[in-house]
Amino acid sequence: MAILRRLNPSFFSLALLLSLSLAIASAKVFFEERFDGTSLSLSLSFSVVVISNDNVRSNAGFVYVVVKYSDGWESRWVKSDWKKDENMAGEWNYTAGKWNGDANDKGIQTSEDYRFYAISAEFPEFSNKDKTLVFQFNVKHEQKLDCGGGYMKLLSDDVDQKKFGGDTPYSIMFGPDICGYTTKKVHAILTYNGKNNLIKKDVPCETDQLTHVYTFILRPDATYSILIDNEEKQTGSLYADWDLLPAKQIKDPEAKKPEDWDDKEFIPDPEDKKPEGYDDIPKEIADPDAKKPEDWDDEEDGEWTTPTIPNPDYKGPWTQKKIKNPNYKGKWKAPLIDNPEFKDDPELYVFPKLKYVGIELWQVKSGTMFDNVLISDEPEYAKQLAEETWGKQKDAEKAAFEEIEKKAEEEESKDDPADSDAEDDDAVDAEGTEGEDSDAEKDSAEEKDVHDEL
Ligand SMILES: *[C@@H]1O[C@H](CO)[C@@H](O)[C@H](O)[C@H]1NC(C)=O
Repeated sequence: MAILRRLNPSFFSLALLLSLSLAIASAKVFFEERFDGTSLSLSLSFSVVVISNDNVRSNAGFVYVVVKYSDGWESRWVKSDWKKDENMAGEWNYTAGKWNGDANDKGIQTSEDYRFYAISAEFPEFSNKDKTLVFQFNVKHEQKLDCGGGYMKLLSDDVDQKKFGGDTPYSIMFGPDICGYTTKKVHAILTYNGKNNLIKKDVPCETDQLTHVYTFILRPDATYSILIDNEEKQTGSLYADWDLLPAKQIKDPEAKKPEDWDDKEFIPDPEDKKPEGYDDIPKEIADPDAKKPEDWDDEEDGEWTTPTIPNPDYKGPWTQKKIKNPNYKGKWKAPLIDNPEFKDDPELYVFPKLKYVGIELWQVKSGTMFDNVLISDEPEYAKQLAEETWGKQKDAEKAAFEEIEKKAEEEESKDDPADSDAEDDDAVDAEGTEGEDSDAEKDSAEEKDVHDEL
C-alpha cells in the first residue's frame, strides 16, 4: 500500500485498470490460499498487495475483505461476553452442516436453542465514500426456522467486541428474518444520525433449509440493490426507499381546493327520464297458470284467491343512468412544494469508519449457519465469489438434503406404521364427505408450503 501510494497518478490508474482484470483472475488463487489458512500471503502480481492476514486483500485502493471461516477462525472472530453471566450465550459449531455441497467448506452454526449469539470480526477500517459497498454472506437454516434472524451487521470503529450485543450501535443490518407466517423478509436497516431506518419496500427472503447468498450493494449515487443467490430482488434509491431525510417535496399546506373545482367523476344523465307509468308496474302479479282446484269448497275452504308470482316486467325502483361528467377535473391534490425542512446530504450513503462485521441473534431453535462473509467494493468480485462457493455447491447440497429427508421419511413410516395408516384413513374419510372441498384445498396448500421450502 505504502509503495503504491507514492507512485505517480498515471501509473496508479494503469495499475487500477490492470488490477481490475487481475483481481478477477487472482480471486480464485487467493481464495484457495485462504482455504489453506495461510496467515500471510504475498501475491507477486504488482497490482495486488495483501496487506495483512489471510482474510484481507487490498489492491490499488480497492478493499476486499473476505472473512472466511477456516481452521483457526476463533482467532479472527471475537465471541462477546454479552448474556454470558445469565448463561444465555449460545455456542457456535464450526461445521459444514448436516448436508452440504463440500464437506471442507465449513461455516459457523448456532448450536443451542433459546440462546443469544454475538460474535464479530475486525477488518482494516475503511470508508465507502466514492465507492460501491458490497456486503455479502451465505446463510442456511438447517433447523427449519420458525422464528429467528439470519442477518449480519456492519459496525463502525467505536465497538468493544467483548461487549457487542443487541444494544450495540451498528451501521448496517442486513439479511433474512423469519417469524411465523407473517415475517419472511430481508432486513436492510441503515443507521443515519444515530437512528435505525428500515427499508420501506418488502423484500421476501428464502425460507427453505438450503444455503442462500444475500448481497447488499450500496452505490455512491445513493442507489442500492438487494440480491439473493446473485439475482436482484430489489433496487432503488436511498431517498425513496428509506426515510433517512425529510421528504424533498411536501404538499403545499397553504393550498386550498378552488370553489369551482368539479371532482364528481359521474353525474346523473339528464337525458334519462323515468318512463311514464314506471311506478305503476306491480312487483307481483296473479299467477296466470293458477286454476281454482275442482274440489275447492268455498264454504269449507274459504274464498279461493289466485296465488301471485313475481312480475317479470317489474325492474325495481327507477334509477337515473349515470354518465361521465364533462366538467370533471380529476381529484384535487394540493400542489407539491419544496420542503423547507429538506436539506440534501450528498454523503447520505457514506459510512466513514466501517471496521467490524458481526452476528447478533436470538435463536429459539438453533441451526442457522453463516459462511463466506464478504465486504468489498466490487460487485463483480462478490458475484464471482458467490458462484465459486454457493453456485458450485448448491446442486450437491440440495441432493444431499433430499436424500436425508427421504431417509427420515422412510424411518418415520417404518417406526410408526399405524400413524401412516391413520393418515391414509383420514384421506379416504375426507373423500365423499361434505368437507371434501376444503380438505382438498388444505392439502394442496400444505403441499405448496412443502414445495416452497424445498
Ligand atoms: C456440529 O455439527 C455437526 C454436523 O451437523 C454435528 O454432527 C455435531 O453434533 C455438532 N456439534 C455440536 C456441538 O453441536
